[in-house]
Amino acid sequence: MKILVTGGAGYIGSHVVKQLLEKGCEVVVIDNLSKGSFKAIESLKGIKKFEFINLDLEEITKLEELFKKHKFEAIIHFAAFIEVFESTQNPLKYYLNNTTNTLNLITLSAKYGVNKFIFSSTAAVYGEPDSGEIKEDSLLNPINPYGRSKMMSEWFLRDLASSDEEFKFVILRYFNVAGASMDGLLGQNYPNATHLVKIATQTITKKRDKMSIFGDDYPTKDGTCIRDYIHVEDLASAHLSALEYLNSGAKSEIFNVGYGKGFSVKEVIEKAKEVSGVDFKVEISDRREGDPACLVANSTKLRNLTNWTPKYDDLGLIIKSALKWEEKIK
Ligand SMILES: NC(=O)c1ccc[n+]([C@@H]2O[C@H](COP(=O)([O-])OP(=O)(O)OC[C@H]3O[C@@H](n4cnc5c(N)ncnc54)[C@H](O)[C@@H]3O)[C@@H](O)[C@H]2O)c1
Repeated sequence: MKILVTGGAGYIGSHVVKQLLEKGCEVVVIDNLSKGSFKAIESLKGIKKFEFINLDLEEITKLEELFKKHKFEAIIHFAAFIEVFESTQNPLKYYLNNTTNTLNLITLSAKYGVNKFIFSSTAAVYGEPDSGEIKEDSLLNPINPYGRSKMMSEWFLRDLASSDEEFKFVILRYFNVAGASMDGLLGQNYPNATHLVKIATQTITKKRDKMSIFGDDYPTKDGTCIRDYIHVEDLASAHLSALEYLNSGAKSEIFNVGYGKGFSVKEVIEKAKEVSGVDFKVEISDRREGDPACLVANSTKLRNLTNWTPKYDDLGLIIKSALKWEEKIK
């Protein structure tokens, strides 16, 4: 099966490319390397050869050439900007890359009859849910441009699928992802990433002298934000399950992807100190604009309708894998 992966040199995309190659799929990766690393995915050529093209999604003519050259059977679309706070400061950057570029990609997908589309969406589309676990049919009410940029892309897919019965999508709404591949081959490469676990491991390995907690006055048990952290390999395997689901001829679906367990920022930091045995400096800073208090996934639908079976549902293990990776890329 020939699959186009956009943003495949990035953190999550590279883990999915690895699993696709291990399954024997033919993979074409495009990435403009603005955040991704070619070196990281180059190592995957040892598993199976694949084509890498350094291309920006906004280069529509070149992108269309790719659709003419290859007969893609599916697209997995990761390429996007991902920082909530940055999206509040520079919203148009997010609408251009995450929304306009996605619309162009979906348009080519429809034009060239690529009828299976898997899209990286986010819990940010829910905004500030009341409380408890979030289900897929919860109200969509994003509170930042990042979430809105993704919500609009979701609607493009839903509307296209309503008008074209051949076209099928799976939208995966990720919650928080962390960790690195268990064989040590891949991990979070981007040094300025804003992910909590990444920053904690950078602090443990002395790449930072301290880290911040952004707000300790949220309406949560210890005042810090609560998130649902999933190991990157379990998140990656959800894409392979989504692909199998689409290959079975099933209808378009939206799935949350998470473990359904919420940990506060303070709890994650405590766990990072515990598993590393390193005490490090943490300071309380102001809240960041755009951060909801609590996001925890209800992923029952994904577990029930696909063959997805997560393997690494353990915060300590997630942090250990991230730390091993951070030590490796010293
Ligand atoms: N990391 C998370 O916690 C998280 C949570 C929810 C959703 N997501 C979504 O998952 C997807 C992947 O996130 P990630 O954490 O791997 O981020 P990432 O930044 O590591 O990966 C994104 C990749 O896309 C590439 N890219 C960006 N714009 C591009 C463009 N115009 N043309 C070509 N390539 C481009 C970047 O170079 C990068 O390699 C994103 O769509 C993001 O919105 C991530």
